[in-house]
Amino acid sequence: MDAQFWDEMYRGQDQVFSGAPNGVLVTEVTGLPPGRALDVGCGEGADAHWLARRGWRVTALDISPTALERAAAIDTTGRVAWTRSDLTTTPPPAGAFDLVSAQYFPLRQQPDHTALRGLLDAVAPGGTLLFVSHDLADLPPGHRNGFDPADYYQPDDISRLLDHDWAVLIDETRQRTAPAPPGTSHTHDTVLRARRLR
Ligand SMILES: C[S@@+](CC[C@H](N)C(=O)[O-])C[C@H]1O[C@@H](n2cnc3c(N)ncnc32)[C@H](O)[C@@H]1O
Repeated sequence: MDAQFWDEMYRGQDQVFSGAPNGVLVTEVTGLPPGRALDVGCGEGADAHWLARRGWRVTALDISPTALERAAAIDTTGRVAWTRSDLTTTPPPAGAFDLVSAQYFPLRQQPDHTALRGLLDAVAPGGTLLFVSHDLADLPPGHRNGFDPADYYQPDDISRLLDHDWAVLIDETRQRTAPAPPGTSHTHDTVLRARRLR
């Protein structure tokens, strides 16, 4: 799943995602005071738009130029820096964000966890990491299309890697507030919410 894969996916349809912000983001972030947010793998930008409308200054990062162009074209807030970048090769600025949100972001496992460490380092002391994935238990056997979930970090994997600089506030599976995306069997999310202490 490289840059070409993702850009072709977006170019293949006028709109890929619903345009609504992700339910877990809305639930978990509504009570937080606005600050600086990083939306990793922002896609068509619904989460970044939602955050910006609530006063967050957002860096919205994606590998797909088509997704970013689409997102920027309907941004009425002027509070989002739409940024083309590959998280696996370019770490975001360290300590720069009060919220780092990764929603259904395919972060490939690495033995030394370099890209994951870059993502974690982007959270400022006192800030929040919100990492959300589809619950793999919802995937019917034999319908993984060559995709091996073990190749990608799940929230639980990340929770286990967090050290004493972090407090894990939520590490759970929960029902989606929205229906499963069309053509999928995703009815549950796995959710990690952690606070960086120092
Ligand atoms: C499953 S989509 C989720 C999009 C959005 N977060 C949402 O919930 O609608 C994953 C997104 O991550 C982006 N992406 C994948 N690999 C990436 C990488 N290495 N660096 C930056 N973005 C990446 C893709 O282009 C895609 O927009």
